[in-house]
Amino acid sequence: MTNKLFTPLPLKNITLPCRAVRSATELFCSTEDAHVYPYEYDVYRELAGKPLGMIITAHTCVSPEGRSNRWQNAIWSDEYLAESAQIAACATSGGVPCVMQLGHGGMKGEGNNGGLPVYTPDSMTKEEIRGVVKAFGKAAQRAMRAGFSGVMLHGAHMYLLSQCFYPEYNHRTDEYGGCAENRFRIIREIFEEIKTVCGDRTPVFLKINGDDREDTEDYHRDIVTVLGICETMGMDAVEISGWSSARTGRPDKPYFLENIRRLRRETAVPLIAVGGIRTAEDIEALFDAGADAVSMARPFLQDPDVLDKLAAGKETGCTGCCTCFKALDKTKDPIVRCPFRK
Ligand SMILES: Cc1cc2nc3c(=O)[nH]c(=O)nc-3n(C[C@H](O)[C@H](O)[C@H](O)COP(=O)(O)O)c2cc1C
Repeated sequence: MTNKLFTPLPLKNITLPCRAVRSATELFCSTEDAHVYPYEYDVYRELAGKPLGMIITAHTCVSPEGRSNRWQNAIWSDEYLAESAQIAACATSGGVPCVMQLGHGGMKGEGNNGGLPVYTPDSMTKEEIRGVVKAFGKAAQRAMRAGFSGVMLHGAHMYLLSQCFYPEYNHRTDEYGGCAENRFRIIREIFEEIKTVCGDRTPVFLKINGDDREDTEDYHRDIVTVLGICETMGMDAVEISGWSSARTGRPDKPYFLENIRRLRRETAVPLIAVGGIRTAEDIEALFDAGADAVSMARPFLQDPDVLDKLAAGKETGCTGCCTCFKALDKTKDPIVRCPFRK
């Protein structure tokens, strides 16, 4: 496990120094007007010294109507450039690449976006879709100006891009609805926009759900179709999450092991496995199944040195209690994100 985990991963536009990734992890602590709370810099500074292949930031909101919760950071205007640059500087200070995850909450904007119109896959006009595509492009441009190594599109977990992809949420009859290619069109257009405004060599990643509520064959076929599109377009890698993305309790195996195994047979696009990885055996099993890299979120909150622990054959200390999903209590000193923090 250790040998493969700590070997470089060459991708289309970037080479990751190793195959261990810190998955996107929102810290739920921005100010009311979406500015970075200083604690975040400490988190990234601490991660920078770890033997990681890539750090993925929290999903950062590309447009005000898409704010997904009241503690989410923003990158929708130049007002957020300096602090984004500080995150990038902290995260990359040890030589590990860091990509900014870009997101739009779609219907999760309800109650969180200060009363702006709430975007849903069915109600969005084509002009609004074009506006979202442009907003992602501008956000990516800011992220690159801020010093990030690339960007990741948050196409998972029922945020706007994921809502657009699920037939359960998207009932459109135009070119943005119906077949998998059409439901994926907004993501494809965002990818193309980013390449146009930031340059063709800009590393772009996608996180997407590899299953639907019942893990159906229809959805599996849809995902195979879009992974084919990603491969043709030149997506650097796709992180495979799922409908039930961060479960409570200790898993007996990585959540999406079987999805990775099935998808690997049908696509050559680099795949990053995430979800419920807790032991060296889990990592081994994912590599055997065809994952190119493995990614963890909660284990890093519990112990930023978790990779050393795994390399020594020990389990992570994450109990899966999910307390980390709560908004941060900024009155505590020191600030604790995980009650079992080492
Ligand atoms: C506190 C917390 C915040 C998260 N924030 C994000 C996020 O901003 N974007 C995202 O794609 N996933 C987010 N996730 C999901 C993780 O990236 C990951 O997919 C999930 O937690 C499963 O991995 P794990 O079992 O290693 O925690 C978050 C998870 C946690 C626990």
